[in-house]
Amino acid sequence: MTETSAWQQILDHSHRADPYPLYAELRKTPVIRLEDGSYVVSTYREIVALLHDPRLSSDMRNVPELAADAPAQAAEEGTPTPPPTVIQTDPPEHDRLRRLLTRNFGPPHRPDRIDSMIPHLFEIVTNEIDGFAGTDGSGTTRVDIVDDFAYPFPVTVICQLLGVPREDEPRFQAMSDAVVQSADPTTGGIAERQRRRARAIADLGQYFAQLLDARHGQRGDDLLSGLLGGDGDGDEEPMSPEEILSNAALLLVAGHETTVNLITNGMLTLLRHPEVLDRLRRRDEPDLAARVVEELLRYEPPVQFLSNNRNTLDDIEIAGTTIPKGSPVTLVLAAGSRDPDFIPDPDRFDPDREHNEHLGFGGGIHYCFGAPLARPEAQIALTELAHRLKNPRLVADPPPYRASPSLRGPRHLLVEIDGVS
Ligand code: HEM
Repeated sequence: MTETSAWQQILDHSHRADPYPLYAELRKTPVIRLEDGSYVVSTYREIVALLHDPRLSSDMRNVPELAADAPAQAAEEGTPTPPPTVIQTDPPEHDRLRRLLTRNFGPPHRPDRIDSMIPHLFEIVTNEIDGFAGTDGSGTTRVDIVDDFAYPFPVTVICQLLGVPREDEPRFQAMSDAVVQSADPTTGGIAERQRRRARAIADLGQYFAQLLDARHGQRGDDLLSGLLGGDGDGDEEPMSPEEILSNAALLLVAGHETTVNLITNGMLTLLRHPEVLDRLRRRDEPDLAARVVEELLRYEPPVQFLSNNRNTLDDIEIAGTTIPKGSPVTLVLAAGSRDPDFIPDPDRFDPDREHNEHLGFGGGIHYCFGAPLARPEAQIALTELAHRLKNPRLVADPPPYRASPSLRGPRHLLVEIDGVS
């Protein structure tokens, strides 16, 4: 098998349940060039080097094909293109947006924001599990870990963080799906996908604008209110209203479309490794949940690859290949996290690993902004599932998977239980 055909197979839905042997094929050549002129990088050291290389840009306006396409598209659609979000920019633009977001979110500026959410995370998870078994908590029943648990949980959390009404989910979900689809390289060429992404972000921005109008200027303690009140941020230029809307849209999508897969991939992996599930159930190893979640981010990561969201500002020589200036690049994080040249016995799920440096949250300046929230969400969700589900067993293995090869996870995860405790 050539590396190019391995990549084609990775994209094919029939390999979604287990792409890992194909990643091993891909790693035989750390950097490959595809027919469309883009490059795919799959080994740990090369991915890390590129994540830290300022010559690799996250601003796709630099790609000649996309730059040429943008004005024509905007005119055709009659809508102004939304400003790029933090994930689509380079320094200094990126650093300013990230600082303004961080000031209103996690440590070191607002550690209270996440700390104060922890009891609430428990409460949401407890209520969802209570709902599994009717009123008396006994009797054999089937639950879908995705629809009944792993999806509604982070949606509730991110809505609360942003000050979005939970009952609006049917309104924003289709737009959120469109953003996810635009990261899926099987759904069209890169220019077309960038257009769809911009449109979906603009639609979500419109939704946020209506939400703010309805609030008549009233501000709460949510992140959106914090950004809107950002005039006193030292000498930093505050975000424009358009930047706030775009970045709020990104947070809404990033805040739940990934965590759902971490929890679901996590439960599936635990059910396949009952000895670890048992240890988690006993709750007598205080840091086990944290180690399980880190290992899941390495072994079954929700973001398998960053698809064509980087491009070269200059020729970059790496692993004996020169990636020419102006080329889109895909970084296969999931292949890097299982690279045997960096991680011993990488195909074994082992929460007791001494060193676990994974690429599950990316790396460099775009390292996941939501990691301080995603970690406790997944730890609490998996510990409570392990502790409270009586005799859980998989109904189908492998389960059916979502379409996307990049944001990868089961579409449903049916589990039979003998009630909940
Ligand atoms: C960036 C993964 C949860 C917000 C990233 C990146 C990855 C990632 C791989 C790097 C993207 C790149 O380099 O282009 C994940 C995973 C999550 C998760 C696996 C859950 C398990 C969250 C949550 C939020 C969030 C809960 C929001 C509250 C962001 C933002 C960025 C980002 C804003 C861009 C940061 C920047 O450009 O500086 N995430 N994420 N993520 N993530 Fe997450």
